[in-house]
Amino acid sequence: MVAGRVSPGSSLSIALDASCTDDHAFDSIYPAAIRALSSRFWTPVEVARRAASLLRQAGARRVLDVGAGVGKFALVAAAAMPELQFVGIEQRKQLVEVARRARQRLGIANARFRVGDATLAAWHAYDAFYFFNPFAENVFCGGECIDNRVELTESRFVRDVMRADHALRAAPNGTAVLTYHGSSGRIPSCYDLSHSERAGSDWLQLWVKRRDSGRRLFAVEPGGKGRSLDVAARRR
Ligand SMILES: C[S@@+](CC[C@H](N)C(=O)[O-])C[C@H]1O[C@@H](n2cnc3c(N)ncnc32)[C@H](O)[C@@H]1O
Repeated sequence: MVAGRVSPGSSLSIALDASCTDDHAFDSIYPAAIRALSSRFWTPVEVARRAASLLRQAGARRVLDVGAGVGKFALVAAAAMPELQFVGIEQRKQLVEVARRARQRLGIANARFRVGDATLAAWHAYDAFYFFNPFAENVFCGGECIDNRVELTESRFVRDVMRADHALRAAPNGTAVLTYHGSSGRIPSCYDLSHSERAGSDWLQLWVKRRDSGRRLFAVEPGGKGRSLDVAARRR
């Protein structure tokens, strides 16, 4: 699970041990400015490990971390569940660079990181999604943000929440969604809450898609007119 780059007995190797829940030890892989954001923006080690176990129990094989930050969730979860693949998509390039460096140092093969808007990703390539309230930063008041290098607006919040909602509705039955501090929006009613437990400073909630959405989605073609798509009908 942890290949040669982390020396045995170091605080990092201890942090990745299945019994360790020490965030300070894990965060030591990150630069000081990133560590300072950890308690607010990155999933705690114990929560990430438990989330990985719930995702595996739900039958997940390929998990998208929607807004991966510096990769803390995906790295801890990938180390805990080597049989699952984790992909983290993050809008801030500098955070992805930090995540990739950490991944390399930890020697974790089953986690990958990409720069981009996660709401525009190919969600059909995944059977499970992890959300740590990724879009809420758009509506935080008082400047409590990671930085101001990306658009942070109420209209962006609405757009991202709507895109995630559409993608979750279009996903096949059996798709799993795991939330920590919520998904930033509402999980569509075609998903059932299958498990809920206290974790870290909030709840881990596991949702599984059980039925077709039955809602017509509205798609806008670039430069063209909007047209409605019956996604359920298109899949048949
Ligand atoms: C609360 S942090 C969670 C980080 C990581 N998932 C974890 O749990 O350790 C949310 C992250 O989502 C990112 N984010 C928000 N909206 C995004 C979007 N539309 N596409 C990609 N990343 C996004 C933010 O930049 C931030 O790094």
